[in-house]
Amino acid sequence: SGPRPLAGLKAVVTSGPTHEPIDPVRYIANRSSGKQGHAIAAALARLGADVTLVSGPVIIPDPEGVRTVHVERAEEMRDAVISTLPVDIAVMVAAVADWRVAASAERKIKKQPGEAPPPLQLAENPDILKTIGHHPERPRLVVGFAAETENVEDNGRAKLERKGADLIVANDVSPETGVMGGDRNRVRLISHDGVEAWPDLTKSEVAERLAMWIATQIGGTGA
Ligand code: C5P
Repeated sequence: SGPRPLAGLKAVVTSGPTHEPIDPVRYIANRSSGKQGHAIAAALARLGADVTLVSGPVIIPDPEGVRTVHVERAEEMRDAVISTLPVDIAVMVAAVADWRVAASAERKIKKQPGEAPPPLQLAENPDILKTIGHHPERPRLVVGFAAETENVEDNGRAKLERKGADLIVANDVSPETGVMGGDRNRVRLISHDGVEAWPDLTKSEVAERLAMWIATQIGGTGA
């Protein structure tokens, strides 16, 4: 095994989508495979960090060397993340649903022939990254992701401020990029120091590099 610059440090990573129930059999969700978030959790662990991965519903396996907590809804994800504090590093990669169904039904909503579809009243979900970025026990390093289809840098910069993050990893998820669900990613790192554009890489390579970037920022000893 190689150098472990993150030995002795704790990290929390979110990954995957959240599922917001409409009723016991239906939900609303964002698209997310969990590949990038899971790879980041594994990469931080390989550098020696004590990692808790809070994952929404995904079909990929739990990464090795990581404590994985499985959740479904955004509120559960928020609670699971907060319960890991204090930590040194937070990397919020999950594609959290912006809205949940305000009053999800306890029983399956029956389709009634001839009747209009039921209305869906939505409520805003907690913003987990923003909560962590402004938390009294804020981690030393708070990293967010920004999946954008346009104005990637401007939106990333705005997000950095609004969410109280130290770094936004922005990626272009326009359909023609194939990033969604794919194995590759092309990202730009937006921090208070400026913008760093990385080449087209696999999601594992992005994870490795990001873990190294984090180790450098946090002043790893290389122990
Ligand atoms: O605002 P937007 O959803 O584009 O921001 C993306 C970043 O914020 C990601 O890091 C995502 O994990 C995080 N996020 C969150 N909770 C939400 C929405 C987004 O943690 N409710």
